[in-house]
Amino acid sequence: MYDVIDLDRVDLGMGEPTDEPQKQYYYMALLRKLVEKKKAELGRPLTACVVTFGCQMNARDSEKLCGILKKTGFTMTEEEQADFVIYNTCTVRDNANQKVYGRLGVLNGYKKKNPEMKVALCGCMTQEESVIAKLKESYPFVDLVFGTHNLYRFAELLWRTYQGKGMLVEVWKETDRIVEDLPVDRKYPFKSGINIMFGCNNFCTYCIVPYVRGRERSRSPREILREIEKLVADGVVEIMLLGQNVNSYGKNLEDGISFAQLLREVEKIEGLQRIRFMTSHPKDLSDELIQVMKESKKICRHLHLPLQAGSNKILKAMNRCYTKEQYLALAEKIRREIPDIALTTDIIVGFPGETPEDVQETIDVIKKVQYDNAFTFIYSKRTGTPAASMEQVPESLVHEEFDKVLKCVQETARSRVARYEGQVMDALVEEINEGSNSEEALKALDAAPGEVLLTGRLSNNTIVHFPGDADLVGQIAYVKLTQCKGFYYLGKRYNEEKT
Ligand code: 5AD
Ligand code: SF4
Repeated sequence: MYDVIDLDRVDLGMGEPTDEPQKQYYYMALLRKLVEKKKAELGRPLTACVVTFGCQMNARDSEKLCGILKKTGFTMTEEEQADFVIYNTCTVRDNANQKVYGRLGVLNGYKKKNPEMKVALCGCMTQEESVIAKLKESYPFVDLVFGTHNLYRFAELLWRTYQGKGMLVEVWKETDRIVEDLPVDRKYPFKSGINIMFGCNNFCTYCIVPYVRGRERSRSPREILREIEKLVADGVVEIMLLGQNVNSYGKNLEDGISFAQLLREVEKIEGLQRIRFMTSHPKDLSDELIQVMKESKKICRHLHLPLQAGSNKILKAMNRCYTKEQYLALAEKIRREIPDIALTTDIIVGFPGETPEDVQETIDVIKKVQYDNAFTFIYSKRTGTPAASMEQVPESLVHEEFDKVLKCVQETARSRVARYEGQVMDALVEEINEGSNSEEALKALDAAPGEVLLTGRLSNNTIVHFPGDADLVGQIAYVKLTQCKGFYYLGKRYNEEKT
């Protein structure tokens, strides 16, 4: 689809255009020439590796990086001993940063062996001043560093990296710009994430996202719908609308369309079969959205509704803007209106001031809501956030509480997920399950000759593994859920529509 960008039509003789994205097309054309030249000199392809840390937003940004690298002639590889390696980083918890520093050390070793090699860093971590200082001090072999606001300038920055020496750092504090129509190389041909908004205005007191992703900016509904239409024409059947807080979509737009209204428009796109979205803040979840989900034939039966904590004292200190009672009432309303919906959540344990009694409140919510899955995190102190200057809970006290929460999550999820055992459901087949594709496993699942083990995703986001033809990948298949294995199912292909 994105091959409407024809680099042959870029007139390099005209010099650098002032408008975007034309300026980036110009640099892509320059880069393409440079890559061709290097390939001829080396007598081999020029390889590039994009490594993604963190969330769906980063995964989508990485597809944009891959799009530009492929367009300019790099050969993509998963191997980090490549000619160009870029880490798209996350900084939501400190362990994400530590992972990057550790792996950078390994890259330095590769770089010493390959004089062609260039190393780049982008994403949330690079928006922190302390990180830039540390890179300059201890990782001077890094060639390029840019942030979340100027990712669209990647082609230009990469070109400049190849022209100069030393570390090129370009990090912006903020932007109100959204540049459309850059190349994207999707990981899956049949499903795609789509940014509908960038940034966050909520300032939960533990969270660094508003500082590294900036203020909320919504993309225009016209651009979003145009992009989805193009994706569908290119074979995409499932989309995930992405934003830190999709429920406040449209608030900064002149024509003021709400997220629920946007969903109604997306639903109308012919050929699109499934719609997902991530993430919803409980404080902004409207009745209109519940109604749209209820009436929709395409919106998946899954809602990720981060709780973070169950104690009102902690919720207040976190600046979450809801109480335990309000959250429970909301979950109950959603369940009442859409009984087959799967609810999942994020939970933080060990926020400043949290006592074992507070953690019991979180456990109480888990028991009452009965989540299908919950991501449980130990609180991580992020410099610059309000919670960093609150009195911290010693880590030794947190682990025990964390284990209690995790155990409760696992127990409730196990029985919750199992409720569909024996039923037939539609699954989007995402891939061949290479890991467990043994003859033995296939035999145990009654596979026919020539079948392989496939991995599909149900509308409610649960995974099912079942034997089938490899060419089912990318299609929606009906599967009988024969056995629940905790968080996932084993199943059998069912050739009729669901009963
Ligand atoms: N420490 C631990 N977890 C965090 N999250 C965000 N910030 C922090 C932090 N400082 C979690 C929240 C959020 C998820 C994406 O990451 O639960 O919903
Ligand atoms: Fe962070 Fe809260 Fe914004 Fe989510 S809503 S990104 S937790 S500040």
